[in-house]
Amino acid sequence: MEEKKRYQEIKELLLEYSHEYYVEDNPTVEDAVYDKYMQELLQIEKKHPDWVTNDSPSRRIGGEVLEGFTKVRHGKPMLSLANAFNKEDLLNFDRQIREKVGEDREYMCELKIDGLAISLTYENGQYKQGATRGDGTIGEDITENLRTIRSIPMKLKKPYSIEVRGEAFMPKNSFKKLNERREEEGHTLFANPRNAAAGSLRQLDTKIAAQRNLDIFLYAVSDFGEMGVKRHSDGLDMLHSLGLKTNKERRVCQTMDEVFAYIEEWTEKRTQLDYDIDGIVLKLNSLSEQREMGERIKTPRWSIAYKFPAEEVRTVLERIELNIGRTGVVTPTAILDPIFIAGTTVSRASLHNEDLIHERDIRIGDTVVIKKAGDIIPEVIRSLPEKRDGTQVTFHMPKECPACQSELVRLEDEVALRCINPKCPAQIKEGLIHFVSRNAMNIDGLGEKVVTQLFSHQFIKDVVDLYSLSKEKLLDLERMGEKSVTNLLDSIEKSKANSLERLLFGLGIRHVGAKAARTLAIQFDTLAALSKASKEELTEIPDIGDIMADSIVTYFSNDEVHELMDELKKAGVNMTYTGPKPAERAHEELVFSGKKVVLTGKLTRLTRNDAKALIENLGGDVAGSVSKKTDIVIAGEDAGTKRENAEKLGIPIWREDDLLNYLPDKVEKEIEGD
Ligand code: IVH
Repeated sequence: MEEKKRYQEIKELLLEYSHEYYVEDNPTVEDAVYDKYMQELLQIEKKHPDWVTNDSPSRRIGGEVLEGFTKVRHGKPMLSLANAFNKEDLLNFDRQIREKVGEDREYMCELKIDGLAISLTYENGQYKQGATRGDGTIGEDITENLRTIRSIPMKLKKPYSIEVRGEAFMPKNSFKKLNERREEEGHTLFANPRNAAAGSLRQLDTKIAAQRNLDIFLYAVSDFGEMGVKRHSDGLDMLHSLGLKTNKERRVCQTMDEVFAYIEEWTEKRTQLDYDIDGIVLKLNSLSEQREMGERIKTPRWSIAYKFPAEEVRTVLERIELNIGRTGVVTPTAILDPIFIAGTTVSRASLHNEDLIHERDIRIGDTVVIKKAGDIIPEVIRSLPEKRDGTQVTFHMPKECPACQSELVRLEDEVALRCINPKCPAQIKEGLIHFVSRNAMNIDGLGEKVVTQLFSHQFIKDVVDLYSLSKEKLLDLERMGEKSVTNLLDSIEKSKANSLERLLFGLGIRHVGAKAARTLAIQFDTLAALSKASKEELTEIPDIGDIMADSIVTYFSNDEVHELMDELKKAGVNMTYTGPKPAERAHEELVFSGKKVVLTGKLTRLTRNDAKALIENLGGDVAGSVSKKTDIVIAGEDAGTKRENAEKLGIPIWREDDLLNYLPDKVEKEIEGD
C-alpha cells in the first residue's frame, strides 16, 4: 500500500512539473529532478502494470503502433475563417458587425498559428480523444499521437466534459533541428514546420510523433456558452485555469485603431516568435453577439482572419544562368546570394524570359526583392534601382545556344527563345533526365545529379547507352560505392520490362504527356504499330488532337528515331503494352473509372501533378472546373469557389487524405518522408 501511495505522489508531482514546464513555460525544478522522479515512476509501473492509467506521465513517450486512423465525426462542425488581406477588408467586416450588434462591440485579437486545427475531447476531466479537423465535419482519430504532446493535459483541473479546439504546431527551433538531423540521415527535408507537424501527427508509430517536439495552443471550445461564460476572453481564461495551454499574446480591442496597432505590432514581431504565425484572428468578444451574427456554411460571421502579405526579402542577383530545357526552350535563371524565405533557403529563381527581365528592370548585380508565389515558388518581383552603384549590367539573351552555339529562334506566338538543334547536348541531357524520371522509365537512383555526371563523363550520349553501363565504369564515378552501383544497375535492368506507355512518355515526343502515352499504348499495343500510324488513325482516338497527331507523325518520320528503336530493342527494352487491357480495366473497378474529378485548394502532401497522375492511374479524368458533369471534387485547404460550387451542386467532396488512401504503398512512404 505504501508503494501505491508513493506512486500517486510522484505521479502528481510529475504532472505538476510538466504543467509548469510545458503549459506555463515556467519550470520550478531542474530537468534532473524531473528525470529522477520519472525513472522512479517507470520502475514502479514496470512492477505494477495494472496501476498505470491513461493520465500517467509515462504514456507520453509513445510506442503504440496503430493500424490506421479511424474517422471521427465532430460534435459540432469545426469551422474555418474568412480571410481579410488589408485594412479595407477589416473595416468592412467591422461595419457589418456594428450594423448588427451596435457600436459597443469588442474584439479579441489572437495570433493565427500556422499549424493544424485539432480537437480534444475530455470526459469528466480525462483526456478521451483527439482528432484532426478533416473536412470540418469528419476528421481522423489521432488520440495517441496527440497524447505525446506534453502541453496537452491528460487530466483537467476540474472534471469538465468538453471538446476544446486549437492548433497543433512544431516550434521553429524543433523544426530546424529535425531537418538538420534528416539531412544528416539522408531523408527528404520538410518544407516548413506546418508540413512537419502534419506529417508527424499522421504517423502510425506514435514514437515518431513523440520525438518531434510538437506543441499546441487552444483557442476555442465547441460551445463556450455551455461553460457559463459570456465572453470569448473569459472562455480562454477558463481554459487556462483548467490547465490547457492558451496563447498569451491575445488582446481585447475596443476600436479598430487598436486592432490595427495589434496587427502592426505582430507583423513586426512575428519573426521573434518560436512558432510560425500567418496572420491575426479577430473574434467578436461577446458570445451572445457571436450568436446574433451567426454563421455561413463553413465560416462564422463573427470572426475573420487577417492574413499577412507574403514575405518579401532582399538579396543580390549575382548572375543570370541560362537553362536549356528538354524541348530546347532557353530560360534565364537568376542565381541569388542564398537567402532564407518562408521556410527554405533560396538560391535560384526563374526569370522566365528577357521581356520580363526588362519589364521589371532587373540587372545583373542588382539588389532585388524576392517573394514566394503561393508560398512555394521563388520569384524575383522587382529590383531596387536606388541601390545601384554603377557596376550593374543590363542582361540580353544571347543569339546562340550556350550549349551548342546554334542560332536561337523565336517560334511564332512564343515569347521564349529555343534552340532547335536536335543534337544540342543540353537538350539531350534534359531528355535523359526526363527518360529516367518517375512517370517515365522510373529508374531509381538515377536523379538529375547522376545523369549529369554520367553525361559529362560521356558514359551516356543517348538513352540506349544507359543499357550498356558497366559496373567498372560506374565505380569510377565520384560518390558511387559498390552498393549504389549494384542498386542502380538493378533498377536499370528492371526498367527494361516496363510497359510501353512509360517508354513512350520517356521518349519525350512533343505534346505527348503521360496520359496520352497510356492511351496510345493501349490503342496500338506496340511501338512498331504506333510508329506506322497515320495522322487520321491517330486523330480518331478520343483525346488525341491534330497537334499531337502531327507531332507523333513527324517524330516517327525521322530515320534516327527508327535507329534508336532498333537499338533499344536489341538492348532488351520491352516495347509492348503490358498493363491491363480496357476490357480488363472495366472489371477492375478502379475508384475513379470514367469519373470526372476536379482538384482545388492547397494540397499539403501531394503535388498537383502527383495527385493528377494518381487520379488518372485510377481511371479518372481530371478537369479544371466544376460543372454538373463533375463526379468528385477533391478539396485541399483554403479551397474557394470550386468547393462552394460543388456544395451547391451536391457533388461529393473528398479531402486530400481520402485520395491518399489510394496511394500505392511505396509512394506513401516517400511522402511521409520516413
Ligand atoms: S478560430 C470558428 N483562432 O486558422 C473559428 N483559428 O483559417 C475557428 N487558426 O481552421 C477558428 N490560429 O486552424 C482560430 N487563434 C486562432 C487560430 C485559428 C490558427 C487556424 C485554424 C482555422 C484556420 C482558419
